[in-house]
Amino acid sequence: MNRLLACLTFLFAFATAVFANTEKVIFIAPPSAKVPPSLQIAQQLEQTALTPYNTTVRSSLPVAFPSPDLSFGREHWYLLRRLRSKQRYEVRICWSATQPTDFSLKVFEIDEILRDEQLLSSAGQSGLQDLGANAAFYISDQTESILALRIQATADFFTVNQTLMRYPPPVDVDIILDPYLANIFPASLVPTAIYILLLAVTGWYVSGVVWSLIRNTVRSGKSHPD
Ligand SMILES: *[C@@H]1O[C@H](CO)[C@@H](O)[C@H](O)[C@H]1NC(C)=O
Repeated sequence: MNRLLACLTFLFAFATAVFANTEKVIFIAPPSAKVPPSLQIAQQLEQTALTPYNTTVRSSLPVAFPSPDLSFGREHWYLLRRLRSKQRYEVRICWSATQPTDFSLKVFEIDEILRDEQLLSSAGQSGLQDLGANAAFYISDQTESILALRIQATADFFTVNQTLMRYPPPVDVDIILDPYLANIFPASLVPTAIYILLLAVTGWYVSGVVWSLIRNTVRSGKSHPD
């Protein structure tokens, strides 16, 4: 009985993930390039950059209901830096199901942003700026594989409470950069894969034992008919 309880506890420890939502984008890191000196990156943004050495950012993101001004909610920008070029990665955003929100993720190359007025202005409002002049303070001269991540956050609930409808509260999120092992499998899912494999192997073994138990019972029943 205790063993059964332990098994159930073990199972439900993994089930907590069910109560959270996830959205993700998968991409291949671009070739290393010199970061344009016309791009200045606010210190605040630099601190929240995701790199292979700093893979998780925990944040509270302001959201908005769709409106003519904000047709895709609020936009937030993060930099993905020091990537390994040609490596496949995914970025996930996870948030609690108790804060219903629509997140949309997309990655852009820096050049792409610099060429597009709209992207540039959105990125600028979020701290990613093309001020030209005193640029490159936060960017070294070295080349690197770098992308910008745009997160569009739209509130997705309805309540009769007018205050909440006008000012939807910020949503607590985890943003995670995850490299794929051999460009096939997300590295952070390896423990889950091992867990499932263990379950499968154990299940196979246990079913064998149960089957032989049943067979023996049936056989001994046949050989001693009373
Ligand atoms: C509406 O929501 C706000 C924020 O959660 C809360 O402070 C306020 O009491 C609510 N108003 C009503 C009428 O329930």
